[in-house]
Amino acid sequence: MRIDILTIFPEMFNGPFDHSIIKRAKEKGLAEIHLHNIRDYAKNKHKRVDDYAFGHGAGMVMMIQPIADLIDKLKAEREYDEIIFMTPDGEVFNQATANRLSTFENIILLCGHYKGIDERLREHYITMEISIGDYVLSGGELAAAVVTDSIVRLIPGVLGDETSALSDSFQDGLLSPPVYTRPSDYQGWKVPEILLSGHEGNIIKWAMEKAEERTRERRPDLLE
Ligand code: 6GU
Repeated sequence: MRIDILTIFPEMFNGPFDHSIIKRAKEKGLAEIHLHNIRDYAKNKHKRVDDYAFGHGAGMVMMIQPIADLIDKLKAEREYDEIIFMTPDGEVFNQATANRLSTFENIILLCGHYKGIDERLREHYITMEISIGDYVLSGGELAAAVVTDSIVRLIPGVLGDETSALSDSFQDGLLSPPVYTRPSDYQGWKVPEILLSGHEGNIIKWAMEKAEERTRERRPDLLE
């Protein structure tokens, strides 16, 4: 899978993709992440990528030309399954959407800033709009990093058996059960007896009950 991220702050992605699971996915050749600096496509003298909003309100709007030229260039090179604008007024991201996006070959994530992007970009290029929750971030970059992480770990072969995505919270619509590791007794705080019993059937039943109980207590909305 190839993910093209369009941003005016490519440096913001230096940390998140260079560790752990995404790093491994890139090394194994299972995911390619390409960062593009929108400013490199500005044609005006001062490399401006934003301008004053017409009509109402103060605040700057990201201009059409640099983003349109960049997307045109990418679309000439390959076909994209979705061209996604990261914006707080998009559809709220969840595991079902992560699963769907992880099956694609090529996607674009466009990170917004200021008061937004010129509406004509949304009309003529954008095929999907994603928000990561009901709060406002300074830009789409952190949201794009969140979405990228959640998608890449679902690509077949990225996770090993021991970290299988099938047992994730949300993948079966439930939160995960509690987990424990050694020692079985830490200064009198004991691991539930059943986990030490070696009886796999009982252990699975216990874990399913705990997952349901935790979901009922913390996220009853997931059970509806
Ligand atoms: Cl995708 N962008 C911004 N700027 N704020 C957000 C968001 C995205 N998702 C939630 N808040």
